[in-house]
Amino acid sequence: MLRHVRIVLHRPMQRHLATYHSPSSPVSDRALTNRERAFLQPMIRVDQAGEVGAYYIYKGQIAVLGQDKKLRPILQEMWDQEKVHLARFDQLVGQHRVRPSLLRPVWEVAGYAVGYLTASIGKEAAMACTEAVETVIGNHYDDQLRELVAMENPNKELVELSKTVAQFRDEELEHHDIAVAHDAQQAPLHGVLKAVIMQGCKTAIWVASRV
Ligand SMILES: [Fe+2]
Ligand SMILES: [Fe+2]
Repeated sequence: MLRHVRIVLHRPMQRHLATYHSPSSPVSDRALTNRERAFLQPMIRVDQAGEVGAYYIYKGQIAVLGQDKKLRPILQEMWDQEKVHLARFDQLVGQHRVRPSLLRPVWEVAGYAVGYLTASIGKEAAMACTEAVETVIGNHYDDQLRELVAMENPNKELVELSKTVAQFRDEELEHHDIAVAHDAQQAPLHGVLKAVIMQGCKTAIWVASRV
């Protein structure tokens, strides 16, 4: 839970999230199979790219709204969490020898631009941006967690990855809730703004898992 934020949601989102349970039997330290390796490659690539984008979105928002005494600590704490997320996926890319997305500079510029532009419209639009992005990313991690927990006889690496994905999913959804609690839905043209940003994120996910 973020230190500076108290979330009061009037209409909590209905969520049917995947649950992660620690395995009851000892976890094997066998090597990953070729199939598991092939499964993890695009997963880790897209997650790293997504965290790059998120890092730069918050950076762009802070460039505009950093002087706002009320918002700054909230944005800063979410940004700090994104830094941890990105560092973890940088580490996983190394550990699993994943080819990172070739488009990293694109994700950096696009993330910063989206954060900066929405914050320039206003605080509510910045929060609507966070609401949209974290809806897509939260669901994306939830889908991945479903696939991970369905895998049979997971080894240590798969168990560790499942824990990471479950934790990050929860944190992204917390960012979503914070944005909604800070008037995201009062943004001008909220529905359009949210739909456009969500579609942009989905397209980016599709591309980043491949390129
Ligand atoms: Fe994140
Ligand atoms: Fe986030």
